[in-house]
Amino acid sequence: MNRRDFLKSTAMLGAALSLPSMLAAGTGKRPEIKTSDAANGGSGLSKLPVRTLGTGKAAFPVSALGFGVMGMTYNRSSHPDRKQCIRLLHEAVDRGVTLFDTAIIYGPLTNELLAGEALSQFKDKISVTTKFGHEVVNGKGTGRQDSRPATIRRYCEESLKRLRLDALPMFYQHRFDRNVPVEEVAGTVGELIREGKVLRWGMCEVSAGTIRKAHAVCPLTAIQSEYHLMHRDVEKNGVLDTCRELGIGFVPYRPINRGFLGGDINEYTRFDPENDNRQTLPRFTPEAIRANTRIVNVLQNFGRTRGMTSAQVALGWLLQKAPWIVPIPGTTKLSHLEENLHTLDFTCTPAEWLELENAVAAIPVTGGRYNAEQQRQVGH
Ligand SMILES: NC(=O)c1ccc[n+]([C@@H]2O[C@H](COP(=O)([O-])OP(=O)(O)OC[C@H]3O[C@@H](n4cnc5c(N)ncnc54)[C@H](OP(=O)(O)O)[C@@H]3O)[C@@H](O)[C@H]2O)c1
Repeated sequence: MNRRDFLKSTAMLGAALSLPSMLAAGTGKRPEIKTSDAANGGSGLSKLPVRTLGTGKAAFPVSALGFGVMGMTYNRSSHPDRKQCIRLLHEAVDRGVTLFDTAIIYGPLTNELLAGEALSQFKDKISVTTKFGHEVVNGKGTGRQDSRPATIRRYCEESLKRLRLDALPMFYQHRFDRNVPVEEVAGTVGELIREGKVLRWGMCEVSAGTIRKAHAVCPLTAIQSEYHLMHRDVEKNGVLDTCRELGIGFVPYRPINRGFLGGDINEYTRFDPENDNRQTLPRFTPEAIRANTRIVNVLQNFGRTRGMTSAQVALGWLLQKAPWIVPIPGTTKLSHLEENLHTLDFTCTPAEWLELENAVAAIPVTGGRYNAEQQRQVGH
């Protein structure tokens, strides 16, 4: 038995072991899992359940859980070397993940380069989504936004090269640009779609009003915003309701709250000042971490009687919110990848999820998710 077969068989054993707790805790029925070769390119690779982001011409069938590539080069302290990261990305493809998420600003550029090197060989089976908007000059982020039509076109050509693709499966506007009307951005991406350089598009962290204006010009496949048990703004600001009404998918980024809900971070955790923005964030000061650990404890207690880890509870809660929601957790570890994917083996009743939600909501979250400058860039 080679290593890959060994890993597959242990993964299957893990799933089998988790089954009794799932049946005992939940509805007693395994969720109906629909698989489709569309999300795996008919590759015969191991299958995950499929979800569809967007509708009509904008529809995008993908694995129910995606993979956020960002932390493999950017903002998550130390990471394994390139070879190890490529190996892990291949393991994710092997396990049926078909949605990988990167952006020009991650690195900058290094993350797209890694994704291109690791994943372009699977381009008929999987999709790598990327994002434009943050200005990058000579390989460095300037902190400004640039979504002018000519820049979008140039970034598209450069991303195609770095990702080694003929067409971008999906191109998101990373942050709203106050200097460029959203209709102009949508029109430019619409032209790129007609030219075959981009297949679908999305926007990140925008308001319900902006979503409506953009969608009217060029149908959106997905909105990507932060969403998890410690940050539920999209439930209140109309974004999720608008996605539901217009048939747009939703991709919750940072679904484990930058690792916090996984339970491996405590007040003594030190983040690398050279490569980790968590040390600049109000929610990641030692005091905030100490206070917010009570929330992780709620997830751990919920998981304990159901055989789930807190990361699985965090991801499972998002998945049950709507069938058009596809979280994109990031990891640098095979064990975490497998743990995260095994979330799909568990099911709990709506009443159980509500109990969890209420228990978490009873604990105030300490510290904002962003510093003042980052906060200024969202919600337009
Ligand atoms: N559109 C936007 O504006 C935007 C902004 C930020 C991020 N994103 C996207 O969202 C993706 C995910 O975001 P993220 O990486 O910030 O946050 P995340 O997925 O919530 O958390 C990632 C962190 O959690 C840890 N982790 C993963 N699985 C775990 C598990 N089972 N148990 C314990 N810890 C676990 C990882 O560490 P290990 O490596 O040790 O597993 C990593 O440090 C990014 O890759 C990026 O593609 C988009």
